[in-house]
Amino acid sequence: MKYDFDHIWDRKNTDSAKWGSLGRVFGSDDVIPMWVADMDFPVAQPILEALRERAEHPFYGYTFPDAGVTGSVVERMRKKFNWEIDPEWVVYTPGVIPALNVAVRAVSHPGDGIVLQEPAYFPFFSVVNSSGCHIENNQVKPVGNRYEMDYDNLETKFSVQPGARGPNRNKAIIFCNPHNPIGRLWTRDEVARMGEIVIGNGGVVIADEIHCEILMKGYKHTPFASISEEFTQNSITCMSPSKTFNLPGLEISSIIIPNKKLRDEFTSTRAGILPNPNLFGYVALEAGYRYGDEWLEQVLDYLQGNLNLVKAFIEERIPQIKVTEHQGTYLLWLDFRALGLDNESLRTFMREKAKVGLNDGYTFGESGSGFQRMNIACPRSILEEALIRIETAVNSL
Ligand SMILES: Cc1ncc(COP(=O)(O)O)c(C=O)c1O
Repeated sequence: MKYDFDHIWDRKNTDSAKWGSLGRVFGSDDVIPMWVADMDFPVAQPILEALRERAEHPFYGYTFPDAGVTGSVVERMRKKFNWEIDPEWVVYTPGVIPALNVAVRAVSHPGDGIVLQEPAYFPFFSVVNSSGCHIENNQVKPVGNRYEMDYDNLETKFSVQPGARGPNRNKAIIFCNPHNPIGRLWTRDEVARMGEIVIGNGGVVIADEIHCEILMKGYKHTPFASISEEFTQNSITCMSPSKTFNLPGLEISSIIIPNKKLRDEFTSTRAGILPNPNLFGYVALEAGYRYGDEWLEQVLDYLQGNLNLVKAFIEERIPQIKVTEHQGTYLLWLDFRALGLDNESLRTFMREKAKVGLNDGYTFGESGSGFQRMNIACPRSILEEALIRIETAVNSL
């Protein structure tokens, strides 16, 4: 069927974090919200139907995913990434962030270092800090209007130095691909080079691949763990249909942990603290993975159209802003540094002058200062309105 993503749905009064808390988050109700990562598009019809059908069966008891659920994850990895996984490797959690919290605790001890690559999705900071570890930053390097990984610095973080087996050894990297907020899809070669450094030195790669199916035209994702047996055995991969099929409110993620020892550590660390996902999450996951591709293809076309619009509009009408080369996710990384505003002034300018609610770049780490993250998964007319608001505000400076 043909989906209509131009239609503007009223999401107020639907318990939406994005639309229901404008006053609280941005201080005013007439801000266009383009921050938290969900889409202003209704879900695929097969997902809606599966949820309706299950809701009609009037039992919502304790839940255990049947083989069909895990089968759909196994088939998805094969179909999308040519990656053969064993059903036993799959563990479910109600979200990727809780899984990252468990994963870090499972592979480290308080006092250890965990490497992030800033600018980084800001919940990663509390994942590391709340586990008693400290953040080691392997900042990504701007090259032209995109970023690259700093392999030399990474090497210094992981190479085993005298005394490095002590309590402060760096244990793992949280590796985000595609990388939120910078929109890079790391290539197979880049992923392999990073992995050789981390795993070659005894570290673990915790791969957050939640955005792996939201790719711009011509890009192909390689799951970290699919590259070699060594990578498979020393990694924890966080997958989820939540970004792909716009289901974050259903809180379902599949965490793929091939190594039994690591999986047992993960399972025992979560026991009694992190519950299993809820019933409707499993239903939506399976329906999306099995029957959601017609919708997904149309969403990806629409997002590509939105990206093209933003690039053309900004280039022509607000050239002071630079759009970082965008490869994956629906979150654009926009460089506002030429406006010469400090972080606080840029934040106020966006909210109060432009009346658009993006994410402030500095919240992703200091290297995000002067940037804003824009969620473009919305009807095109809303995107156009937001761009016009920004243009008007910039022209008034
Ligand atoms: C890179 C990344 N990881 C994790 C999450 C959140 O995952 P969850 O809602 O499943 O905890 C997001 C959401 O935007 C994200 O961008």
